[in-house]
Amino acid sequence: MFSHLPPYAGDPILSLMEHYQRDERADKVNLSIGIYADGHGAIPVLSSVRAADLELAASPTPATYLPMEGHAAYRHAVAALLFGADLPPAQHLAVVQTLGGSGALKVGADLIARFFPQPTIWIPDPTWDNHIGIFEGAGFTTERYPYYDPQTKGLAFDAMLAKLDGLPRGAVVLLHPCCHNPTGVDPLREQWVQIIDLLQRRGLLPFFDLAYQGFAEGLEQDVWPVRECVRRGMAFLLSNSFSKIFSLYGERVGALSVFCPQAGQAENVLGQLKLTVRRNYSSPPMHGALIVARVLGDAALRLQWQGELEQMRVRVRDMRTMLGAQLETAVPDRDFSFLLRQHGMFGYTGLSAAQVDRLRDEFGVYAVHSGRICVAGLNDNNVARVAEAMAEVLRG
Ligand code: LMR
Repeated sequence: MFSHLPPYAGDPILSLMEHYQRDERADKVNLSIGIYADGHGAIPVLSSVRAADLELAASPTPATYLPMEGHAAYRHAVAALLFGADLPPAQHLAVVQTLGGSGALKVGADLIARFFPQPTIWIPDPTWDNHIGIFEGAGFTTERYPYYDPQTKGLAFDAMLAKLDGLPRGAVVLLHPCCHNPTGVDPLREQWVQIIDLLQRRGLLPFFDLAYQGFAEGLEQDVWPVRECVRRGMAFLLSNSFSKIFSLYGERVGALSVFCPQAGQAENVLGQLKLTVRRNYSSPPMHGALIVARVLGDAALRLQWQGELEQMRVRVRDMRTMLGAQLETAVPDRDFSFLLRQHGMFGYTGLSAAQVDRLRDEFGVYAVHSGRICVAGLNDNNVARVAEAMAEVLRG
């Protein structure tokens, strides 16, 4: 029955994780997947999360089904986090709880595919590999717009604008509001203004993917492009995730928000999102959402969490600085200042796939084939070794 099924080649990021786990070298370093590890190399359980979890355990909630759209207090807390205290009224905003950010992308993709047949999405070149998988899996054609310029190791801003300017009205455009994955290269505020001007003028539909709110500059600053679209009354979709910012990867906690400029549309959008969820997985899981709702809904826990998020952000930035400084000492004829201009968990090193293979095979340092490293996997004990390994492969 299944003899015609081809083998799965494996996911470019998740397969590396499996490979890393099988590697028996004691000094191996995992800089592949986007997971934050603390200064001791451990995935943290945030103390705010632990406190909320203990409170939940003290008065257990029956594990009944959540509604298709998810837990009400969670959805409200998410909307306030994303859109601020003066969040858009309910007739403009549909929010559903999803299985992480990936689930949000899929629910949003399914919604668009149902009501805008034969859809195409324009994604940045490069982008997170799974954007292609999720949107093509939902029946989209994926096209690219220029984003990263390997010469300047910065944003290909003019080429990006030129491409977006030529897209047909209503075209869906995927954007990372902050901490672009994989490059860490984000538009400056004044560039965002021009991008949003163009999206508005050309009637394009932004689909924001926000997995790292708070990892670039701060919780408020990192959602500026999204809030600017609300201010201007532009329709958009927004997926967000609590995997990284709450260190809750396996709980699969995320949300999809759809902003509807015309009052009253959100009710039908929410209804269709519920139907999409029902057809996919019926309703979302509960535990992670209860934790997030409790932390965000309690002033003291929320403050504690914001402090912990800030610590993660600062530690990653410090590791960037340390890696850059050590690389500059080891390879003095090269400029590594681009590492410091990048934001979030990732460093886009410019290493070739062959150099990445050497890093893994000869030094046990795991990075993604695109040359992306997870800076959040560095710590005081491994950064020198990683810098030395990178210097060695760069010397050729
Ligand atoms: C990553 O880019 O490494 C993360 O978003 C994890 C994943 O699922 O790929």
